[in-house]
Amino acid sequence: MTAPLLVRALRGEPVERIPAWVMRQAGRTLPEYRALKENHGFLGMVTDPVIAAEVTLQPLARFKDLDAAILFSDIMTPFLETGIGLRFDPGPVLERPIRTRAQVEAMGPYDPDCDAPYLAPAVRLVKKSLPPGAALLGFAGSPFTVASYLVEGGGSGGEARAVRRFAEEDRDTVHLLLRRLAEATVLHLRQQILAGADAVQVFDTWGQALSRREYQEMDEPYLRLVFEGIADLGAPAILYCGGAFHQFADAAATGASALSVDHRVPLDEVRKQAGPRVALQGNLDPAVLFGPRERIVEETERVLMQGGPRGFVFNLGHGIWPETPLEAVRTMLETVRSIGGRICAKAAGEGGA
Ligand code: CP3
Repeated sequence: MTAPLLVRALRGEPVERIPAWVMRQAGRTLPEYRALKENHGFLGMVTDPVIAAEVTLQPLARFKDLDAAILFSDIMTPFLETGIGLRFDPGPVLERPIRTRAQVEAMGPYDPDCDAPYLAPAVRLVKKSLPPGAALLGFAGSPFTVASYLVEGGGSGGEARAVRRFAEEDRDTVHLLLRRLAEATVLHLRQQILAGADAVQVFDTWGQALSRREYQEMDEPYLRLVFEGIADLGAPAILYCGGAFHQFADAAATGASALSVDHRVPLDEVRKQAGPRVALQGNLDPAVLFGPRERIVEETERVLMQGGPRGFVFNLGHGIWPETPLEAVRTMLETVRSIGGRICAKAAGEGGA
């Protein structure tokens, strides 16, 4: 059986058209998600495999031009059972943030069956109903990004102040925390891949807060451990590194199959920094979806031309904004399907295929 289009694109193989999915496509914008959430609450949805599978598939039911589903959960849900008192309001909030060495030492190893028993059944349910050719993505937060929430006790406004301050006060403990998180992340991603996820994405949303030197010490080595720890399973791994302009070369060296980048740097520029080995994903500005139809088509085409026919997955530069008009999403995806197909056909023709 041929691999899903998304997987082939991530491997840099020739494809018949450019695949597309939308970061944070489940939830946020969809009325059918809000209706379910009213009854079950966010954590109730994540921890019920039947509902999680339904929410995962909702965007694909609405938009036939999506090439991937992303499993409905959150970067913080693997840590629900670790005694941190996690709730969502709407972002992650911790009753007991991690501030001491004793707390880090007390963190037990991640146990997929105890810590996230709902995950593998949800993956299997999604796989049964996925449209032909579409892929299922599993995901996790990067060790540094998860650490930023664990130490801060919630969102940090992007500066990751609490974890960076902790690293100045007690560097060894922060390294111990990052190592434990890397080990947990490997097990968490393996759980999803072994249950049937075709590829995974690691969200390093807050690595951008680090200087290049600090990234090389506190982020890159742990990302490397994560990608090494899943390499034998053969599922491509995307690294989301929005805002990490000063880090693209290091990010490309982590072992990720692809870098997912935000809208602020054109893809041809990213390619120069990241080198030819990794695929790219991105990077339409989510704001463009509020513009007129012609603007959406034009900007989508621009991103497709820069991304090119090989080793490229179309996406937004970051998560879709909650109030985005759904008609705009449709226009964007139809444009990827038609123009992305033409770009690939032209490349195949020029290659003599
Ligand atoms: O398509 C999907 O949305 C798939 C599932 C998914 C969620 N969170 C569900 C969710 C994914 C892939 C994530 C990743 C995530 N979570 C990231 C990395 C991606 C990024 O945006 O940079 C981060 C930093 C988080 C942490 C988090 N969880 C925040 C900041 C919030 C606040 C609200 C929001 O949507 O950003 C959450 C809660 C959350 N996670 C919701 C959803 C659908 C909102 C819950 C609600 O409906 O109120």
